Amino acid sequence: MNHFTDVEDVRRALSETGYVADARLATTVFLSARLDKPLLIEGPAGVGKTELAKALAAATGRRLLRLQCYEGQDETRALYEWDYGKQLLYTQMLREKIGDLLADTDSVDAAVERIGAYDSVFYSERFLSHRPLLEAVRSEQPVVLLIDEVDRADEALEAVLLEMLGEYQISVPELGTFRARHTPLVILTSNNTRDLAAALKRRCLHLFADYPSEERELEIIRSKRTGLDDALAAELVRIVRGLRALDMRKAPGISETVDWARTLAVLEVRALSRHVLTDTLSVVAKYDKDLRLAVEALPSLLAGEIPAGQPDSLDDGGRVRAGKDAPGRFDEGYYGAHARNLARSGVSASQGALSFARRRGV
Ligand SMILES: Nc1ncnc2c1ncn2[C@@H]1O[C@H](COP(=O)(O)OP(=O)(O)OP(=O)(O)O)[C@@H](O)[C@H]1O
Ligand SMILES: [Mg+2]
Repeated sequence: MNHFTDVEDVRRALSETGYVADARLATTVFLSARLDKPLLIEGPAGVGKTELAKALAAATGRRLLRLQCYEGQDETRALYEWDYGKQLLYTQMLREKIGDLLADTDSVDAAVERIGAYDSVFYSERFLSHRPLLEAVRSEQPVVLLIDEVDRADEALEAVLLEMLGEYQISVPELGTFRARHTPLVILTSNNTRDLAAALKRRCLHLFADYPSEERELEIIRSKRTGLDDALAAELVRIVRGLRALDMRKAPGISETVDWARTLAVLEVRALSRHVLTDTLSVVAKYDKDLRLAVEALPSLLAGEIPAGQPDSLDDGGRVRAGKDAPGRFDEGYYGAHARNLARSGVSASQGALSFARRRGV
């Protein structure tokens, strides 16, 4: 199905929903829709990864299905589950019928054999609970499927996703293979807390969503109608970009810039002074270390200077982040995600086992 006529059409459709896309992002979304390939967006927190899926659903009028990934999640939360409670209820309600059915059997073997013939009744669609992936395949209406924060899921769950991402189908051993009625638009997001499997990456178009350019960030702030004067918003964006160049544990995302602008507007600030920015810094700096770094850097940022010790830093911290982009990516502070725990454990085999421990619930 052709959703968009060209890249500009994507940009326009997204912007009508309030999402500001640059050319690279719009091109990748266009290709993803045209080539029927899932789109994997990796990048720091708060740069609009999740928001893109929501905007895409709104722009195409599709229903949004969301699989929020987390550690220890198993495939019954992602694909489907047999509704054990309902199966039990039915067997209880049918107790008499089952009694009649078995009345003329004279051995346990014969009774089991007789009941076995009705297996398929209890493993039929009636007792199948759809989870987001199966729902995306079975939906009568076209959908946008968001697989959010896939890097938080175990590697075992990643493997479960492959059939869906590669062929838009799900196999249920008892019932057969379900193919998607309408190819879903699939968005996967990742904060890079760990490397994703090559098999998963290969099935997706890949986009690294970094912080936006100064102009685009200002455009986003404007589109949010924060109430902050335009000239102040421009200055604020420049200061946030300076903060991103510092070696913060959690660099401020677009959402923090929006929040800061709203905060300053509520306080009816008429000029960005060191005093007012310091008082409101907690909106953008979420760790003590970050707060101290930001307070120190504010005077030079206000003067339009490059933060001390960061000679190349007004590229909004691209090099700081690039320096952290090591294989495994488990160093403390990588994109500010749960780096400490990961550093110690990585993704262990036992987590993978856990992912499959609660199979089918019966
Ligand atoms: N391009 C954009 N256009 C409009 N708003 C945006 C854009 N990018 C980000 N935002 C705003 O920033 C907020 C945070 O974005 P979002 O939740 O999508 O971040 P994320 O990249 O998914 O972060 P995380 O990794 O923490 O989940 C959104 O609610 C939205 O208001
Ligand atoms: Mg998100």
